[in-house]
Amino acid sequence: MSLKILTVVGARPQFIKAAPVSRALRREHNEFLLHTGQHYDRNMSQLFFEELEIPAPDLNLEIGSGPHGEQTAQMLVGIERVLQEQKPDRVLVYGDTNSTLAGALAAAKLNIPVDHIEAGLRSFNMTMPEEVNRILTDRISDQLFCPTAAAVAHLRREGITQGVHNTGDVMYDAALHFARLAGERSGILERLDVAPGGYLLATCHRPQNTDDPAALAAIVRALADSGERVIFPVHPRTTGFLRRDGLLEGLEGAGRISVIEPVGYLEMIQLERHARMIVTDSGGVQKEAYFYRVPCITLREETEWVETVEDGWNLLAGSDYDRILGAIRTFSPPAQQTAHYGDGHASEAIVHLLDGTV
Ligand code: UD1
Ligand code: UDP
Repeated sequence: MSLKILTVVGARPQFIKAAPVSRALRREHNEFLLHTGQHYDRNMSQLFFEELEIPAPDLNLEIGSGPHGEQTAQMLVGIERVLQEQKPDRVLVYGDTNSTLAGALAAAKLNIPVDHIEAGLRSFNMTMPEEVNRILTDRISDQLFCPTAAAVAHLRREGITQGVHNTGDVMYDAALHFARLAGERSGILERLDVAPGGYLLATCHRPQNTDDPAALAAIVRALADSGERVIFPVHPRTTGFLRRDGLLEGLEGAGRISVIEPVGYLEMIQLERHARMIVTDSGGVQKEAYFYRVPCITLREETEWVETVEDGWNLLAGSDYDRILGAIRTFSPPAQQTAHYGDGHASEAIVHLLDGTV
């Protein structure tokens, strides 16, 4: 029997995760794709639907940006209304954003089972909005699809064992599926005039780095003082803070640093695969660095993706100037990697498990 599944997405990484899952899901089930509108710039949203051939959202709530309470509350109101109209059998949410929490909470209150993809991750840092979102979402989910064994273990420690599955990571599915296409279609290296292995790729958007002027300045100074060619696609959140702190002009003037608008996924993975090193505070980008065997320096004191650190491919440097610069100059991972993130068929495994709920 086919299910009616309502999927809630809203932010850039969720579009990427939805690409392989929607494709697998729609072979057997009906999907209603609800976009909260959390991300709305063309290069943070629409571009991903086009490039990754994700079906157009059935509805966009166009909530946009705002303080956490206001943004989440508006999503909750909108999603509840749609759930009452659409009456899905189940609600599917991804990751740990405000869109994730709003989707899960609206569904749980209407007694609609919630399926959480990327369940069980923990940073153990409760000052991160994502940590709050994921703990609450996991607590009210019916099926919890974990990307790693560590995520399953976290849930077990919290007493959550029912409906928990280690399916592998749907971002690995996407990274494998789109890598070939990126090579064929993306001419970004030529456009930026960089050679494979001849540049660093940097991203930064976590509030603990962007909102704190000292942290942001230290990160930017370390990149500039490294003397390396740096490609820096800047998240719109960060653009505002770089401007606030007067850092943008200095960066652009440094000559070796290309400060560019956010790029599409195909361009991004092309940039990742050929970087000498990646410097980031993004969850997704840390893992993609690992998938493509590129050394990664993480601008945080902890990570949810502990396997990348344990295997020696990811180094935590916080927002400390000396640690970041030192790592850029000396970090060298071992050759070994382990298969932590599944076999590239996590999406199919998830759909198979959903079939079992009918
Ligand atoms: C959100 C998620 C974060 C995720 C990230 C992925 C929450 C609490 N945070 O963070 O977990 O890692 O998305 O990228 O859900 N903005 C634009 N245009 C856009 C979108 C955002 O200009 O299309 C700017 C606005 O100034 C906005 C700011 O970015 O206030 C932050 O956007 P928001 O969606 O609130 O949080 P992110 O930092 O993007
Ligand atoms: N990404 C992208 N273009 C960019 C920056 C990131 O396509 O300019 C992709 C990246 O490859 C990864 C995902 O966006 O798949 C990560 O999203 P983000 O860093 O916004 O959020 P996080 O993973 O930290 O939640």
